[in-house]
Amino acid sequence: MSPVTGEFIQYQPASPTWAQALQLTLNQIVMEKKFLLNTEPFSVTQIEEYICKMIKNENPFWLAVQDRKVLGWCDVKRLENINLRHTGTLGMGVSLPFRRRGIGKNLTRACLAEAWSSGFDKIELTVYADNEAAISLYRSLGFIEEGRFRRFARIDKNYKDALRMALFKSPDVE
Ligand SMILES: CC(C)(COP(=O)(O)OP(=O)(O)OC[C@H]1O[C@@H](n2cnc3c(N)ncnc32)[C@H](O)[C@@H]1OP(=O)(O)O)[C@@H](O)C(=O)NCCC(=O)NCCS
Repeated sequence: MSPVTGEFIQYQPASPTWAQALQLTLNQIVMEKKFLLNTEPFSVTQIEEYICKMIKNENPFWLAVQDRKVLGWCDVKRLENINLRHTGTLGMGVSLPFRRRGIGKNLTRACLAEAWSSGFDKIELTVYADNEAAISLYRSLGFIEEGRFRRFARIDKNYKDALRMALFKSPDVE
């Protein structure tokens, strides 16, 4: 996949050389403790290994970059079970000061375009039920709600419900 450029922000597939820059953005969102399942910071090595594995498995993984900074990412990881391999799980985040500028939508669109052309039929995700920004973004792209997990996570003794959302390549798939 070739990079897409727009308004000083470049949208490009991830490579291990971006691991350190991605670590800053990822860990900043991890430490917000409100949006992601993980609440422990990631090491550069963990991120490098994750990027390498995603590339090896031909999973879509897009970055929004400006100068040497990573402003956000979106990735889709194919499920491993032989009967579930038509489905990918989407994860994403945009650095706090850069939110609400269209970066999340651009990243998701780039990732989805690659996913559909790579043979995925269904993209699913799990989002905390109180994450209005993310739910609104996913709905605006056509994701539908498939169900609710009650007390899905417990963070600092507080339970959080989560929604399972999904988008289908062809809407008439039963
Ligand atoms: C969710 C997230 C990725 C959205 O990224 P973003 O770059 O801010 O989103 P965009 O600017 O592309 O917004 C696209 C649409 O999403 C919705 N949206 C985004 N932020 C919103 C907010 N704070 N409140 C309500 N709707 C919002 C809107 O529909 C928006 O379109 P509009 O600006 O034309 O109204 C970002 O808020 C984020 O990183 N949050 C923390 C990490 C996270 O929640 N990851 C997802 C875990 S499932």
